[in-house]
Amino acid sequence: MDYNYSERMSKLNGAATREILKLLTRPEIISFAGGFPATQCLPQKEVQEIANELLSEGRATEVLQYGTTEGFVSLRQQLIEYVKTAGIENVELDQTLVISGGQQGIDLMSKAFLDKGDVVLVENPTYLTALQIFDSYQAKIIGVNADKNGLDIEDLENKIIQYKPKFIYCVSTFSNPTGKTYSIANRRQIASVTAKYNVMVLEDDPYSKLRFEGEPVPSIKSFDTQGNVVYVTSFSKVLSPGLRMGVAIGNKEVIRKLTICKQGVDVSTSNLSQLIVCEYLKRGYLFPNINKSLPIYRERKNAMIDAINKYMPDEFSYINAEGGLFIWGGFDAPINTTTLAPEAIKHDVAYIQGQVFYPCGDVTNMIRLNFSNASVERIDLGIHRLGDMFKAEIAKVK
Ligand SMILES: Cc1ncc(COP(=O)(O)O)c(C=O)c1O
Repeated sequence: MDYNYSERMSKLNGAATREILKLLTRPEIISFAGGFPATQCLPQKEVQEIANELLSEGRATEVLQYGTTEGFVSLRQQLIEYVKTAGIENVELDQTLVISGGQQGIDLMSKAFLDKGDVVLVENPTYLTALQIFDSYQAKIIGVNADKNGLDIEDLENKIIQYKPKFIYCVSTFSNPTGKTYSIANRRQIASVTAKYNVMVLEDDPYSKLRFEGEPVPSIKSFDTQGNVVYVTSFSKVLSPGLRMGVAIGNKEVIRKLTICKQGVDVSTSNLSQLIVCEYLKRGYLFPNINKSLPIYRERKNAMIDAINKYMPDEFSYINAEGGLFIWGGFDAPINTTTLAPEAIKHDVAYIQGQVFYPCGDVTNMIRLNFSNASVERIDLGIHRLGDMFKAEIAKVK
């Protein structure tokens, strides 16, 4: 059979990380490749308690019936309170849409705004799956330069003028892959320059609550005076990725369009997941559980930093993020981390090659390391193995 796929599938082969991710089920492999929360941070007891109550308390029909696409009002009210922690105030109910994870927010924004050939500006580098989603809508993806304070505002403005993008996608706090957080001044400037040129911003924030050091910063959305910022956050990293729960906050008209797009995708986010998260928030479980998780993540991040300092070659430098799940680093040496990724697997360690996070795919000396899902001992062992491998490679090219 000749399968006659759509044109939009032509750029999507998922090859970049598929081979690595396939191998990760092997228990001997120490994986720094994914972005999974630590298993012991998943609040099994609380979720079980709530789910039992929901299914036995006469609320079973609410759980088992169809739901509205926008989501349960009681949950959306909780979410309005929740996003105040990102500095987002005065949100009305019809400015909220419950979504099935943050990734759905990226997909719905793309569906609502992108025609073939439209431009999306992204921080260079950025979240791999967002790039794949934009590709699936046949968008043209252009990278914006960034430094430790966030987006290069001059480059952003020039590219807005040059490319007339439909929107800008950014992970403003503890970015994936870099772990960077935009400064408050940078956030203010992004809100103002995009408002000036009538460009939408998609602010993706799955990580801001996972802060181990430093002070929280308000979202870009909190500086939005024109209704051009859509803020998406998710419960995947702070509660459970399996529940597939998130929320999009934006201008009413935009949220209406995203709702229409969602209708055709999954009708609504799972009622069971919505009501579990609603009760979880109502009972005040979220922040105490996050506070229990933070020392685990902090310890793992510190273990990774210590191991990097001990074992990685001098040519390796990295960003020591104040939160999130990743360490991003690169080599000041002509080695190719893409071709070495399968080699690392032979040593039973996995990382993600930096190349896949760049829209142009033209950077081959960077790696992303996840520290959340391996024990301190395995982090030490895995980085030791990687360090030995990279040192040997560097010796070859010297
Ligand atoms: C930057 C970023 N956005 C979105 C997501 C998707 O998360 P969700 O599970 O909420 O769909 C991830 C997951 O790793 C991510 O890193």
